[in-house]
Amino acid sequence: MVEALREELADLTASVRAFLEWHAGTGAEGLPGHPSALHEALGASPSEGALAPRRAERGFPGPEAPSPPGPRGGSAAAGAPAPHPPEQRSAAAGSPAPHHPEQRSAAASASAPHAPDPRITAGPHPEPRTTEPQAMRPPVQAPWGPEPPPRPAVSAAAAPRADTAARANAPPPGTPEERATRLLLIAEEVRTCEKCPLHEGRTHTVFSRGSPLSEVVFVGEGPGAEEDLQGEPFVGPAGQLLDKMIAAMGYHRDDVYICNIVKCRPPKNRKPEPAEMAACSPYLTSQLALIKPKVIVALGATAVQGLIGTNEGITKLRGTWKLYKGSIPIMPTFHPAYLLRQPNAKRDVWSDLKEVMRHLGKSAPDRG
Ligand code: URA
Repeated sequence: MVEALREELADLTASVRAFLEWHAGTGAEGLPGHPSALHEALGASPSEGALAPRRAERGFPGPEAPSPPGPRGGSAAAGAPAPHPPEQRSAAAGSPAPHHPEQRSAAASASAPHAPDPRITAGPHPEPRTTEPQAMRPPVQAPWGPEPPPRPAVSAAAAPRADTAARANAPPPGTPEERATRLLLIAEEVRTCEKCPLHEGRTHTVFSRGSPLSEVVFVGEGPGAEEDLQGEPFVGPAGQLLDKMIAAMGYHRDDVYICNIVKCRPPKNRKPEPAEMAACSPYLTSQLALIKPKVIVALGATAVQGLIGTNEGITKLRGTWKLYKGSIPIMPTFHPAYLLRQPNAKRDVWSDLKEVMRHLGKSAPDRG
């Protein structure tokens, strides 16, 4: 074993020396700037690492063997035990299939060089600052000293190759896969969003739940305590009632798309401020533009306000069709949290939901 390692080190040293001699012969000054040149000299692609072919020759574990944990755990590698965030678990080989269609799609396109990182998901992100991609993080000054010098830029010659590959691997425009991929990218942007003070108190951002192929989208106000903990909308008591409403319409909760006006929990479940709603609204606009539902059900006054800007009360608004951006019908109705306090209002909500079903050409299931 020691002998084999020593031999390998000697081989490597000789290769590096040969490369440096060759490089000096080219007349270029300084050390080579592009790592692929060195890798080529060593007979390995940059992604494999210089030792990969030699390891295989000598019976060392191949690239599928678990890699040692890096600074961020390094355990998203295939076969390695999953660390904390569920989205990392679902990306690891052999893990259960992702639950969300967005996640499924991301996993399917994970082989694309520029495809979204499969760790990346719309779901919970317990440690936002340690799991977000390098490119999206603001530079952070290490407390123990100055930053290391910047890494050499990718050579101009390499860049077009990468772009071409990314384009070739991107899902075709207009397909459900493309829609899911783009939603996933927005969810990732939301995950690191600091556009309003609500980000300061959040545990997780809460982007969506359900199918982006749905013909109906339910829009609520903002995450509550349980949603903030789980990173999913409508999973608390109001969510359980919403599930029953959805089932009464003949859908499964995962068949419809559910989201909120704001993606972070307002403190003490207060109503989001107009400035917070405005800061978050481009995300909802993008979600709805991608999903293009046939109907939006606005749950409560804040949802209607966030969608169409009216300040009218929900008692007046409910049951009357409105239009979102001049094209998508909105049905305002009472929020399920209100129904928990005022069960008598359930019959009004059921009447509103039946109106939605009529619009969609669905008949009300027999409710016994
Ligand atoms: N209330 C909302 O408006 N949204 C949620 O996600 C949960 C409760």
